[in-house]
Amino acid sequence: AIDIQSLRKRTGLITYDPGFNNTGSCKSAITFMDGENGVLRYRGIPVEQLAEKSTFVETAYLLINGRLPEQKELTRFSVLLNDHSMVHEDMRTFFENFPRGAHPMGILSAMVNALRFFYPQLEGLSETEELDIIVTRLISKVRTMAAMSYKISLGHKVVYPKPDLCYCANFLNMMFDSPVKPYNLDPDFIRALNVLWILHGDHEQNCSTSAVRLVGSARVNLYASISAGISALWGRLHGGANQAVIRMMEEIHAAGGDVKPFVARARDKNDNFRLMGFGHSVYKTYDPRAKIIKKMADTVQAKLDKSDPLLDIARELEEVALKDPYFIDHNLYPNVDFYSGIVMRAMGIPTEMFTVMFAIGRLPGWIAQWKECFDSPRWKLSRPRQIYIGNNVRDYTPIEART
Ligand code: ACO
Repeated sequence: AIDIQSLRKRTGLITYDPGFNNTGSCKSAITFMDGENGVLRYRGIPVEQLAEKSTFVETAYLLINGRLPEQKELTRFSVLLNDHSMVHEDMRTFFENFPRGAHPMGILSAMVNALRFFYPQLEGLSETEELDIIVTRLISKVRTMAAMSYKISLGHKVVYPKPDLCYCANFLNMMFDSPVKPYNLDPDFIRALNVLWILHGDHEQNCSTSAVRLVGSARVNLYASISAGISALWGRLHGGANQAVIRMMEEIHAAGGDVKPFVARARDKNDNFRLMGFGHSVYKTYDPRAKIIKKMADTVQAKLDKSDPLLDIARELEEVALKDPYFIDHNLYPNVDFYSGIVMRAMGIPTEMFTVMFAIGRLPGWIAQWKECFDSPRWKLSRPRQIYIGNNVRDYTPIEART
C-alpha cells in the first residue's frame, strides 16, 4: 500500500478512485476479509467458528471489545442489555405519527437519531462510562424499536421485552407473541437468528460502515453516526438487496418459475436488470456467509408444514447462474443476501423488515468501527477530494443579459 498522504504532501498529487474500491480509508483491527479466497474473520476468529459456537451477544462483545468475554463479563453484558431494553413511552407517540406505509428503515434511522434527545447526556460519568451505556442502550433498544414498529404497523398491541429471555428469543417474542395467539419459541429459530445476526456483524469498510465512520469523523455522537449507517444500508445495492432478492424470486415464481430468462436479462447490457443477491465489491468467489446461510435455509425450511417454492427457485437460479459464462467471467457468486431472505421468511419475518434485521445484526460492527475511529490517535476528519470537471473561470452575467 502507498501512503498517499505523504505522497500528496511531497508532490501535490491526489488519487482518483470512484467508489474508493482501491483506497484504504483507515487502519483497522476489527475484521479481516480476503475476497479472492472467501475468508472472513472477526478479531481474528473465522466466522464459521463463531456461527457454529457463539451467540450474537457474545460476538457483539467480541467485535466491540476486541476479545471474547469471560463468563462474568458476558453475564454482565447480557444483564445490561436486558436492563436497557425498554423504550421511553414518549417515543411511542413519535412512532405512531409516521404515515402508514413508511419504510421501517426510514423510521429506524429517525428513531435512532432521536434516542439522543430521549436519553440525554448522563451527569457525573466519564466519557468511557457514558459510551458503554450508549452502546448497550443502542444494541438493546434498536431491537425493541424494530419489533415495536412492526407491531404498530399492524395496528397490534406492542409486546414488551421479557427479562428471562435471551436477546434473540426476546426479539422473536416481541415480534410474534400476541394475547390471542401466544408465540411458541422454537430453539432452531432462536439459533438461526443468532447465526444470521453473527454473520451480519461486521464487514470492514462497506458503504454503511464507511458512512458511520465518515459522519463520526466529524465528532458527532454515536446515535447520529449509526443513523447515517442505517440510511446507507437501506439502499438496494447494499442491505436493501435482501428485500430485492425476495421480490425478484416472487417475480420469477409469478412468471412460471423458469429462471433462465432472468439470467439472460442479467447478462443483457441494454437491460438495467441485475440478479439481486449476486456479486460483491470484494468477494470474487462464494461469499462465506452465504455458504452458511444456504445450509441454514434447509434447517429452517424443515420446520415448516409446507416448503417455500422460493427456495427451489433460489437453488435453481444459483445452479444456472454459476454455469453461465457471463457470471463466470465476471466472478459473480451468491452473496449474503441471496439466501438470508428465505431463512427470514421461514421464521415469519415480513419482507419489509429484512433490511431492519440486517441493521440489527450490523450494529455491533458499526459501533466497533466508530469506537476505533474515535479512539484513534491518528483520527482525521474525513474529507475526500475530487477531480474538477466544470467550467473555467467566467464572469457573472446580470439576469437581463442572460439568454
Ligand atoms: N447481475 C448482473 N451483472 C452484474 C451483477 C449482477 N448481480 N453484479 C455485477 N454485475 C456486472 C456489472 O454489470 C459489471 O459488468 P461489466 O463490467 O460488463 O460492465 C460488472 O459485473 C462489475 O459490476 P460493478 O457494479 O462495477 O461491480 P461491483 O463489484 O462494484 O458491484 C455490487 C458490487 C453492487 C454488489 C453488484 O454486484 C450488484 O449490483 N449486485 C446486486 C445487488 C446485491 O446483491 N447487493 C448486495 C451486495 S452484499 C451487501 O451489500 C450486503
